[in-house]
Amino acid sequence: MSESTIESSLPEKRLFHPRAEFSQNAHIKSLEEYKSIYDRAKADPEQFWAELAEQELHWFQKWDKVLDWQPPFAKWFVGGKINISYNCLDRHLQTWRKNKAALIWEGEPGDSRTLTYAQLHREVCQMANLLKQLGVQKGDRVGIYMPMIPEAAIAMLACARIGATHTVVFGGFSAEALKDRLVDAQARLVITADGGWRKDAIVPLKQQVDKALADGGATSVENVLVVRRTGQDIDMLPGRDRWWHELQHTISADCAAEPMDSEDMLFILYTSGTTGKPKGVVHTTAGYNLYSHITTKWIFDIQDTDVYWCTADIGWITGHSYAVYGPLSNGATTLMYEGAPRASNPGCMWDVIEKHGVNIFYTAPTAIRSFIKMGDHLPKARNLSSLRLLGTVGEPINPEAWMWYYRVIGGERCPIVDTWWQTETGGIMITPLPGAIPTKPGSATLPFPGIIADVVNLEGDSVETNEGGYLAVKYPWPGMMRNVYGDPERFRRTYWEHIPPKDGQYIYFAGDGARRDEDGYYWVMGRVDDVMNVAGHRIGTMEIESALVSHQAVAEAAVVGKPDEIKGQEIVAFVTLKNSYDASEELKKELKQHVVQEIGALARPGEIFFTDALPKTRSGKIIRRFLRFHAAGQELTGDTSTLEDRGVLDKLREGEG
Ligand code: WTA
Repeated sequence: MSESTIESSLPEKRLFHPRAEFSQNAHIKSLEEYKSIYDRAKADPEQFWAELAEQELHWFQKWDKVLDWQPPFAKWFVGGKINISYNCLDRHLQTWRKNKAALIWEGEPGDSRTLTYAQLHREVCQMANLLKQLGVQKGDRVGIYMPMIPEAAIAMLACARIGATHTVVFGGFSAEALKDRLVDAQARLVITADGGWRKDAIVPLKQQVDKALADGGATSVENVLVVRRTGQDIDMLPGRDRWWHELQHTISADCAAEPMDSEDMLFILYTSGTTGKPKGVVHTTAGYNLYSHITTKWIFDIQDTDVYWCTADIGWITGHSYAVYGPLSNGATTLMYEGAPRASNPGCMWDVIEKHGVNIFYTAPTAIRSFIKMGDHLPKARNLSSLRLLGTVGEPINPEAWMWYYRVIGGERCPIVDTWWQTETGGIMITPLPGAIPTKPGSATLPFPGIIADVVNLEGDSVETNEGGYLAVKYPWPGMMRNVYGDPERFRRTYWEHIPPKDGQYIYFAGDGARRDEDGYYWVMGRVDDVMNVAGHRIGTMEIESALVSHQAVAEAAVVGKPDEIKGQEIVAFVTLKNSYDASEELKKELKQHVVQEIGALARPGEIFFTDALPKTRSGKIIRRFLRFHAAGQELTGDTSTLEDRGVLDKLREGEG
């Protein structure tokens, strides 16, 4: 990455100060206050986190040691006993919040439900008791494959309550992808639904679970608990499958939260990396609870009267930290929406905001760009005056989209928090605090207190102001991932040795390129590895390549991302066929469908090119850079001397598909 490309792509100089009315009532009220908290945390991180842990959370037993750091393995609040479901529910029942709305849910067909803290607690306890009855024990893994309905959050909290580790699999993943995750986690039970509504159609979740468990797949799974949502006919396998609604009423709502060790595993969430197999990112109990809690409180400036809406699906980390755990731990009202903009109601998001008087709205740049495309008339026809704060996450936001969000949705009165973080970090790392930090469109601004971030080169040295480099973190934080499930070596290699430790100090490698400007503001440029960001979904090129190569016609495949106005990136695949197969439009369709079957619709290639050969180095490595140029329709520039066979490039050009 060179400085000149960064400079030319980011001429952004506008600065937006928080309005006085906002700052006065905010948790963190000024830049000076932020700086003083930041400096204090930097001077003594352990003291900083310990004070917050004491103030903000309920403990069954206090810890003996704040941090045990044996790089790259961290333990936080060692010896402490805590339960995140208790912190999200029980402690609020002892206050006026008992009858406050914990969860407001809006279904796509227009049905809705509100659960108070007392009601949510009751259902969580019932599901927790049922899990126990079905043989789930502390330490067991439970798969959750659900639509966005209240029972999705209930399932997560029920697992946490009894000390079972949940692994939520996004409902858009295929049966094959679900099976891989259930096998890797050795899940004992799966919680699912008959189906869910998405874009006026039913996603057949239970059917996918049946496929994942068929023919000896995921043999560790003993039971399937099914929530009735859509009501269509599904198969129920006697002895294995049970309906939640039939059992719920037979079960006691009395279930004490299990005191968990701080470092007991809370969840595994699979995410894409540079190799074919997704990794199970492990998060543990106390540190994650504290980090998701305090980031929610300060970044979304949660106040007791707020209705807060994070649009992320619970299948992603954003749904875990900022739709469920963070807001509930704070005793906030969190809104969950099952649907998505669709032909029958392209303005549905704005309807939900108006109907429920949403105050805080957190979504992804890809969604914002699609809102822009659908037209200003949609939000303008609704009353959005309840909004007071906006957020974005998932990919860099282009300044034009930022400005549109600010003007059209925020009415020029709402600050925007552009939050940079990852599945691995557990919570937001670089972000404005909305009452304190002036924003620049396209910049995630400054690190959260306690986060020692930097932009470095591959030797681990900080780069100059405005020079491009790698985004890195230089000190452990409570929300950090603890391991790759079952593969500590991969954890070490991927995150902590990519940049070698410097003077004994370990450096966390995020996989993103970034620069820091003269005000210390971070500008995140996107991934520097083979991970793509497609419509806000993180997906590895290798995963798609493996899927393609598993088709009988394919000899070799290479996948790259191509810039896309709405999705950020579009998936483009280059495929060489085995001799006995001929290129055809039919086969292209078949291959796209094959990828959908292997991974899910989120991985469907936008374009497939058939080619006789792929550009490779003499040692046989595919040179993706050339393919990227080709996919983007650009003339190839740069050094081609590493190519083994230069004729390949001409063939690529001729073989346009
Ligand atoms: C990207 C999502 C720029 C980044 C929470 C990161 C961002 C990856 C931002 C993690 C942002 C996330 N600005 N890029 N505000 N937020 N990213 O694990 O490339 O699904 O590495 O976590 O998303 O994606 P993940």
